[in-house]
Amino acid sequence: MKMSNRISSFQASPIRRLVPYAREAKSKGIHVIHLNIGQPDILTPDEALDAIHKYDEKIIEYGLSEGELELRKGLLSYYRNFGIEGLDEDNILITTGGSEAIQFSLMTLCDPYDEFIIPEPYYTNVATFANIAMVTLVPVTSRMEDGFRLPDISEFESKINKKTMGILLCSPNNPTGHVYSEVELRELLELCRKHDIFLVVDEVYREFCYDGKSFTSVLSFPEYADRVICIDSFSKRFSMCGARVGAIVTRNKEVLENALKLAQARLCPPMVEQKAAAQALTAPAKYVEDVRTCYEKRRNTLIKAMQRIPGVRCSMPKGAFYFVADLPVDDAEKFALFMLRDFNWEGNTVMFAPAEDFYVTKGMGHTQARFAYVINEDELALAAKCLEEGLKAYRKIVMHS
Ligand SMILES: Cc1ncc(COP(=O)(O)O)c(C=O)c1O
Repeated sequence: MKMSNRISSFQASPIRRLVPYAREAKSKGIHVIHLNIGQPDILTPDEALDAIHKYDEKIIEYGLSEGELELRKGLLSYYRNFGIEGLDEDNILITTGGSEAIQFSLMTLCDPYDEFIIPEPYYTNVATFANIAMVTLVPVTSRMEDGFRLPDISEFESKINKKTMGILLCSPNNPTGHVYSEVELRELLELCRKHDIFLVVDEVYREFCYDGKSFTSVLSFPEYADRVICIDSFSKRFSMCGARVGAIVTRNKEVLENALKLAQARLCPPMVEQKAAAQALTAPAKYVEDVRTCYEKRRNTLIKAMQRIPGVRCSMPKGAFYFVADLPVDDAEKFALFMLRDFNWEGNTVMFAPAEDFYVTKGMGHTQARFAYVINEDELALAAKCLEEGLKAYRKIVMHS
């Protein structure tokens, strides 16, 4: 049967599309270490789990399309702890994960064939959200040799034209780990004001900044209120990825009134999980602080081990829990397949995400891969050993070098 041309042009996620090969390897008894996906092994706060265990409604009813008031009010106090003042509950639309928040934002701001500028490498699932909204992503390239810092503001400006509706950033960044400074954000906001476009910032990794680096939220610039949209999520912060709770936060009420039309069509975000999310916000500050410290240690362990592998290049990420590495191979996807299908070291192998699809520009990232450090340090050290041995084997068997 024929399906739409549109769906055949969509990508299968590079984070998940090799899963059948991982499953096959596991069925042969091989231990597959997952560095491909940002699924933390961190325990969800008790406060959130208790809310689910104690849920005692007799019917799980539909709720408000904009999200339950308890949760939106809880988020207001949470943002105040980040020094973000002057928001009210009508500035928040609860979504089914940060994913839906990105989707709703693009649909609300853009007509088909409008453009959004995005630094690449970028969170690859945005490609699908842009495809659904028929929005063209226009890349500005951040480079490994510059530590993936924000490209010059003039590069952003050179991409702005009549179709440009906004710039989409992710800070701390998935996949590069870059954290945008207050100065960088202000420069971009000025540019957006000059050209009357939006700045959308995905801050789902807000808490995870390392080396004492401070985080600046795009919501802390009330003077640019109308053009600022923040994407948020409970998935990573409270290790509740499966709960599917996120948010769009903006002082531009017209944006939210329009996004609400999309929210009404999908009726409401998950009700039980919203209760859990509201309670997660009451977890002691120590919960998130301990998680942050844990990721920082994991980052140090994996980056140090990777930097010791001959031919591997990667720089120290400053936030989130990912980094991009350049590998001494001809094709990172082929190597990823080799690791799952044809290789193991003492019964272990590694799954990672080839980075090519994290770029809009064709041909970029061909030898790069994204790695997530969301598992314990022993497993990370073992993963690095497997990669080192896997690279030796691949270069010998496949590249004949
Ligand atoms: C940068 C970024 N934004 C948004 C999401 C989506 O998160 P969720 O839909 O689970 O809230 C992710 C998930 O990995 C992400 O890395």
